[in-house]
Amino acid sequence: MLGMDVDYSTKIPNNIGLTEDRRVLKALEGWHPGYIDWWMDMGPEGFQESLVYLRTAVSVDPKGWAKFDYVKMPEYRWGILLAPQVEGRKVPFGEHLGEPAWQEVPGEHRAMLRRLIVIQGDTEPASVEQQRHLGATAPSLYDMRNLFQVNVEEGRHLWAMVYLLHKYFGRDGREEADELLRRRSGSQDHPRMLGAFNEATPDWLSFFMFTFFTDRDGKMQLESLAQSGFDPLSRTCRFMLTEEAHHMFVGETGVGRTIQRTCEAMKEAGVNDPFDVEKVRALGVIDLPTIQKKLNLHYSLSLDLFGSEVSTNAANAFNSGLKGRFQETKIEDDHQLKTATYPVLKMVDGKIARVDEPALTALNMRLRDDYTDDCAKGVERWNKIIEKTGVQFRLKLPHTAFHRQIGEFKNIEATPDGELLDADAWAKRRNEFIPSSADGDFIASLMKPVWETGKFASWIAPPKVGIDNKPGDFEYVKIAA
Ligand SMILES: [Fe+2]
Ligand SMILES: [Fe+2]
Repeated sequence: MLGMDVDYSTKIPNNIGLTEDRRVLKALEGWHPGYIDWWMDMGPEGFQESLVYLRTAVSVDPKGWAKFDYVKMPEYRWGILLAPQVEGRKVPFGEHLGEPAWQEVPGEHRAMLRRLIVIQGDTEPASVEQQRHLGATAPSLYDMRNLFQVNVEEGRHLWAMVYLLHKYFGRDGREEADELLRRRSGSQDHPRMLGAFNEATPDWLSFFMFTFFTDRDGKMQLESLAQSGFDPLSRTCRFMLTEEAHHMFVGETGVGRTIQRTCEAMKEAGVNDPFDVEKVRALGVIDLPTIQKKLNLHYSLSLDLFGSEVSTNAANAFNSGLKGRFQETKIEDDHQLKTATYPVLKMVDGKIARVDEPALTALNMRLRDDYTDDCAKGVERWNKIIEKTGVQFRLKLPHTAFHRQIGEFKNIEATPDGELLDADAWAKRRNEFIPSSADGDFIASLMKPVWETGKFASWIAPPKVGIDNKPGDFEYVKIAA
């Protein structure tokens, strides 16, 4: 099919006919050296010369889009890949419902569209920056390879957004593309745009929680942008979602394998009480209450990424046909939300209550609810792992009001069960809910690199199957001396 195969003859692999689009090709070639500089400065530290068994997209055909091979990361072929154009596609929601999808930027919505693209684009390099030190403490070559796969694909996602900026936004698009290489995660004077992307990812449990919770926010944002009436954005996001699935797989199985190892070690040693933290830690594994605290932290940070529950920006983006709902085309309603309401959690007279709001302004809340449902399913799969070992413990998502910096609950404190706390009580009990510095030190003490093929650190179980069906002792990374 036309547009399925990827042209590798240009410096920038693509399936969008870049060779014929000299202006954009030139612009992207001009941006490339700055990107490589950024990757060398801010990408995986210490492994730029290593050979990594990576997948590269060679097609956008869902049945076989990737090929695996050893690559040095700076030589990875970051390409620009859009899902094939759907013939006769229409704007699926908002004021322009039913009009032909736009192949050019709709002038009246230009600024809003550019902002949506820049915000999405900014998260991609941010996560690479947040994860750049993790290679040094990888619990196995398998995990190291997965980390680097996520990193190069986040790099490609940056390319995807930068392509849209260069192709459709002229000079201000070029300036935004340059800025994306200039901001730095956690920087005081030039931070990344969103809070969770300025937090540290200090250890591998954080990395797994991040890829489970924060990459899943990414999935929800991409799902709603994939509905966009601006067709190039929709096509770009649709292909990014195929890659995103692997990132969440890395997170879910990473946490799952950590839990598995903890429970197995407890069983082997006859430790039955999961709350006997000292005894469990003495086994060289991460106790389940600490895993719960990490979960609390990463889930609450990720909820903040959805923005305020009630938001006129979200309403405008929907009305304009730029950003839809999760699985918009499968929802049965008017797709304009003219009269609908949606229940929103709010503070009312000092209590948490559900209040009906116009559905149009409650779109962030709705997307966040869809996200919570998706997270809850994964947490249940983790609980199944615990259950099977016979250990008596259940993980759960904390209450929406817990540990929030954005939206309705930013000025209050609550326990993970949603019980309101005053500032003193919060300060006293905080370490029960999110990892303390002592918890962090303990986890850090386990983060010893294991680079022998087929071997795994004490705190994590091996995966059930290898990447690309490789055997257990496969050398996923050939580390350069
Ligand atoms: Fe991404
Ligand atoms: Fe991702």
